[in-house]
Amino acid sequence: MKRLLVTGASGLLGINLALRESTRWDVTGISNSHRLVGVPFNVIPADLSTDEVIRQLIEINRPDVVIHCAAMANIDECEKSPDKAALINSIVPGRLAEVCSKRGVRLVHLSTDAVFDGDVGNYLETDTPHPLSVYAQTKLDGEKAVLDACPQAVVARVNFYGWSLTGKRSLAEFFYNNLSAGISVNGFTDVEFCPLFVNHLVDLLMRLSKGSHNGIFHVVSPVALSKYEFGRRIAEVFGLDDRLIRPVSVLDSGLTARRSPRLTLNTDKLKETLQIVLPGVEEGIQAFAEQYTAGYPQRLQGYLSQ
Ligand SMILES: NC(=O)c1ccc[n+]([C@@H]2O[C@H](COP(=O)([O-])OP(=O)(O)OC[C@H]3O[C@@H](n4cnc5c(N)ncnc54)[C@H](OP(=O)(O)O)[C@@H]3O)[C@@H](O)[C@H]2O)c1
Repeated sequence: MKRLLVTGASGLLGINLALRESTRWDVTGISNSHRLVGVPFNVIPADLSTDEVIRQLIEINRPDVVIHCAAMANIDECEKSPDKAALINSIVPGRLAEVCSKRGVRLVHLSTDAVFDGDVGNYLETDTPHPLSVYAQTKLDGEKAVLDACPQAVVARVNFYGWSLTGKRSLAEFFYNNLSAGISVNGFTDVEFCPLFVNHLVDLLMRLSKGSHNGIFHVVSPVALSKYEFGRRIAEVFGLDDRLIRPVSVLDSGLTARRSPRLTLNTDKLKETLQIVLPGVEEGIQAFAEQYTAGYPQRLQGYLSQ
């Protein structure tokens, strides 16, 4: 069996990716502050902040493929600790890419739709980014560091949702948790995005990892919608009361970091490269709800050591 190393295996993407691929690959997942128990893959707790740890992880595990999901992904935390954000989101990916390049290891690095300012929307991979936050700037710097050190790597700009270990990580969980408890929430009517269901993202990342593709790819849903509309669709699929979602402007939200209003990415390059039809928003939300019915959120939360 080929070896897959997943960093950020305790995060939203990493845990779903490591679980989904664990029957097809010999998976090793790296966690940091969260401890995983009983998962069907190897786990190594490690802080990736130092050069030496990264080098050792690659040399000891000798993976065929690395999917680098680890990041400082909390936008407001990045505003508060810009140096730490630069280390985790820019410097660490560059170091990892350097080691992967030297060892001939295939690398898929995760970036974000937020590298754009969202003024125009429908961004191509070749459009000039304009990050509005520390998080977005450090992720953009991370893309460059990766491709400078390892031009063969794939950089995937993403936006996704799914069930997480803590049950609180994704926007879909936020809407589900609050609406099912009868709590009113804000839904931004002026922030558009292209959210992809996490397992659909996993499948696309694994396909990209297999070919000889390289460079930047937009790996998001082909359909754009507002965060308010996304919340309404979550309410609908779970039979919850969508009147609990207040349609509001992001400008009135009091959030620390600036958000980009039209974070919609063009996916033509991805579709043409992989010769596929991308799954739509309805299909993703339906699959998210089916996981709930199958008890997946509880199973996930059982993997988190208290
Ligand atoms: N969620 C989204 O919709 C979204 C949108 C755009 C881009 N992205 C990008 O997609 C990727 C995955 O995001 P996510 O939502 O899955 O993130 P997440 O849930 O916040 O998980 C982040 C992961 O990184 C790990 N990590 C943080 N600092 C670390 C360190 N110093 N050493 C080792 N591991 C460390 C965390 O480990 P512990 O928790 O164990 O500390 C966790 O496993 C990131 O690159 C993110 O920027 C996500």
